[in-house]
Amino acid sequence: MNIVLGITGGIAAYKAPDIVRRLRERGAEVQIVMTASAEEFVTGTALQAVSGKPIRSNLWDKEAEAAMSHIELARWADVVLIAPATAEVMARIVSGGAPDLLTTICLATEAPIALAPAMNHVMWNNPATQANREVLEERGIHIIGPGIGSQACGEEGAGRMLEPDLIAITVFNLTGGKGEGLLEGRKVVVTAGPTREAIDPVRYITNRSSGKMGYAVATAAAAQGADVVLISGPVSLAEPPGLEVIKVESAMDMHAATHEAIDAAHIFIAAAAVADYRPVAIVEQKIKKKSESMSLELTRCPDILASVADLDAAPFTVGFAAETENLIKHARGKLEKKKLDMIVANRVGRDCGFDRDDNAVTVLWSDGEKSFPTSSKVELAHDVIELVAEHFFAKRGSETQSRLTVISNND
Ligand SMILES: Cc1cc2nc3c(=O)[nH]c(=O)nc-3n(C[C@H](O)[C@H](O)[C@H](O)COP(=O)(O)O)c2cc1C
Repeated sequence: MNIVLGITGGIAAYKAPDIVRRLRERGAEVQIVMTASAEEFVTGTALQAVSGKPIRSNLWDKEAEAAMSHIELARWADVVLIAPATAEVMARIVSGGAPDLLTTICLATEAPIALAPAMNHVMWNNPATQANREVLEERGIHIIGPGIGSQACGEEGAGRMLEPDLIAITVFNLTGGKGEGLLEGRKVVVTAGPTREAIDPVRYITNRSSGKMGYAVATAAAAQGADVVLISGPVSLAEPPGLEVIKVESAMDMHAATHEAIDAAHIFIAAAAVADYRPVAIVEQKIKKKSESMSLELTRCPDILASVADLDAAPFTVGFAAETENLIKHARGKLEKKKLDMIVANRVGRDCGFDRDDNAVTVLWSDGEKSFPTSSKVELAHDVIELVAEHFFAKRGSETQSRLTVISNND
């Protein structure tokens, strides 16, 4: 895939070399086009080294134009990705102006355009920027993110550029440069994130799950061509484009949403950290501080994973086991007890697992297991999805002989 990577003048430009690396890892040719402001944040030398091509930045560079004109560059691109995308470049594209090489390419290309905005949360929420986002989306330009979280300015909010790996995967996903299409035509339902079990109108019980692993798994399944329904507990992650996302709060909500979505699903992946217990009753008014101690009576939440595995027409069912000790033993126990097809075991604790960008997992099935060392959750999700696809097709038998050949060749 030929990608024109536009880099504009935002702080997140320092992540651009990583984006280039992630795109090239997936086999893309990357031609970088920088704006003048971007050059204030990251050097062309570094970007030239990682992209392996001279950087383009000046519309009036006669030598570069002679080698490949801006029109040829616009035609060469299978996709134009701008990451980071400033508020300013969004406005320039909306206006249809072409004062620099990057926006000229945007006007002259027929390839899909994707922007990964990155800016201060007030800039992002400014009505002007939001109006520009709407126009861009109406014109079919893909907006990847932004994420929510801590910002370079020290504040919190929406406007953070998504992680380079997630941007790279989303671009491949959006533009047809998918994986091997291992799950083409298959429906995959994924649950992700924590649940919130209300105590009263202002308090709830929850856990430390960030949803990052489940979101990465859902995105990886979509990248393999699956129709993905992502059922998400409350998280601060951007909705991955191209998936159906259903937002829920409690374990009961997630149970109901899962059973509504599971019809005709081929694969169910339960990555959510669903509460085991919830308060017996939700107190109607805020509980007042009266006595020195108080007790909460809890009752079991429905076991979503087991309830899906128990269905007469159960899909290929994959669980996650987050354990703080005896990881493999507990995970294998859960695999057998709940009659799952596979289980992904990951150790959780203060130093690993929840709310981090990396993870290490072991995937277990009835007569085998495979361990994946620590890497980004996005990379792990791809490995896990390939393995799930392999076992799913093996279970379905000859239907997929040809696909299995593809998988084993890639091993
Ligand atoms: C230190 C500094 C950081 C900036 N960070 C951002 C940013 O993260 N996002 C953004 O939209 N603009 C940011 N700006 C403003 C842009 O650089 C400015 O709007 C510029 O004109 C963008 O030009 P370009 O879109 O052609 O690259 C920043 C400016 C400065 C001086």
